[in-house]
Amino acid sequence: MSSKKKILITGGAGFIGCHVVKLFVEKYSNYEIYNLDALTYAGNLENLSTIEKAPNYHFIKADIVDKEHIDALFQEYKFDGVLHLAAESHVDRSIKDPLAFVKTNIIGTVNLLNAFRDTWMDNFEGKLFYHISTDEVYGSLGSTGLFEETTSYDPNSPYSASKASSDHFVRAYGETYGLPFKITNCSNNYGPNQFPEKLIPLFINNIRNNNPLPVYGDGRYTRDWLYVIDHARAIDLVYHDGRLGETYNIGGFNEWQNIDLIKILIQQMDEKLGRAKGESEKLITYVTDRPGHDRRYAIDASKINSELGWKPSVTFEEGLSETIDWYLENEKWLNSVTSGDYKKYYDKMYTER
Ligand code: NAD
Ligand code: DAU
Repeated sequence: MSSKKKILITGGAGFIGCHVVKLFVEKYSNYEIYNLDALTYAGNLENLSTIEKAPNYHFIKADIVDKEHIDALFQEYKFDGVLHLAAESHVDRSIKDPLAFVKTNIIGTVNLLNAFRDTWMDNFEGKLFYHISTDEVYGSLGSTGLFEETTSYDPNSPYSASKASSDHFVRAYGETYGLPFKITNCSNNYGPNQFPEKLIPLFINNIRNNNPLPVYGDGRYTRDWLYVIDHARAIDLVYHDGRLGETYNIGGFNEWQNIDLIKILIQQMDEKLGRAKGESEKLITYVTDRPGHDRRYAIDASKINSELGWKPSVTFEEGLSETIDWYLENEKWLNSVTSGDYKKYYDKMYTER
């Protein structure tokens, strides 16, 4: 029998998960990597085509809400480490259907925690449950200040409330059962393979199709953007070198008001598409705001920087350019994820605004 460590990555067919799976499969031939994913609308095995045949890669189709299935998988494989990314991840969807977020993000996380605890509670030595979370748990900032690891939780959307709850469960299992855990709270990611419901890929797709660009409210909401590959690098570092029982914030040191980001995106896309400078600005359309819209997120990532030496490796202009190139070169991917149910989603989200 293989003595290699068995690492479970949940949500590995999604946006961030696929980059984490690829990094781990390629870098750690001494691990068996198990990607567990329910393949919801956000999961896509094509994201993993470059490593799908690697001998240390395995795919398991499972829903983390299905307790019996999760328990059976832990009994069968006895995963030494868990990187938990599976989640419902889009704020607008959480406003339309909060219960789906309670099920996957809270109940699903507790199912994984129970299965991990029950597998290892006699001896947790060398085991790890790593929970990947979001800066949205901290709520909204005013025009100054940064989220620190000690900032109080103050979630404002059903999505962030469900992620906050899952963070609390992870920490509570650490206190109550001695379960070895780590948590990271990261800012907005962008990059290849992101489902075009989030700002950047949705706007790339709409610019390419000459469709309106729906800017919520006054467009002056602020986010701190991080290239997904840099997030995956941070996750690798925290998994291996971060301290047990600790939280690390991860951010891009890269704040943008939405409308300014959109103008840079338009500038780069118009150039790549051979359009006149600023031509696609005519597509900007201000629409009704998102209810409970958090005004500003910004991360103080000095803890992960000073303890683990992590910092972003890619500038925003470079990352954005690589991202646009990826979407333009992968039109088949983009066309396939925006056919079928996507149209229904779009109508529900945008024509009813
Ligand atoms: P995503 O929506 O792109 O992917 C989620 C993945 O989880 C999909 O592959 C989906 O099929 C799978 N999944 C959903 N429900 C499941 C279930 N019940 N059982 C098993 N699999 C299920 O999400 P993402 O943007 O890659 O985010 C990944 C994680 O990182 C999430 O936990 C999210 O909260 C967190 N996060 C995301 C960002 C961001 O900007 N995208 C930033 C910080 C933290
Ligand atoms: O901060 C981390 C979080 O970032 C993650 O936890 C979430 O999973 C991820 O979805 C993201 O949440 P946001 O709500 O910040 O991302 P989104 O891309 O949906 O929106 C970014 C900003 O753009 C936000 O201020 C809302 C605005 N927006 C978004 C869309 C989809 C628009 O103006 N128009 C749009 O059509």
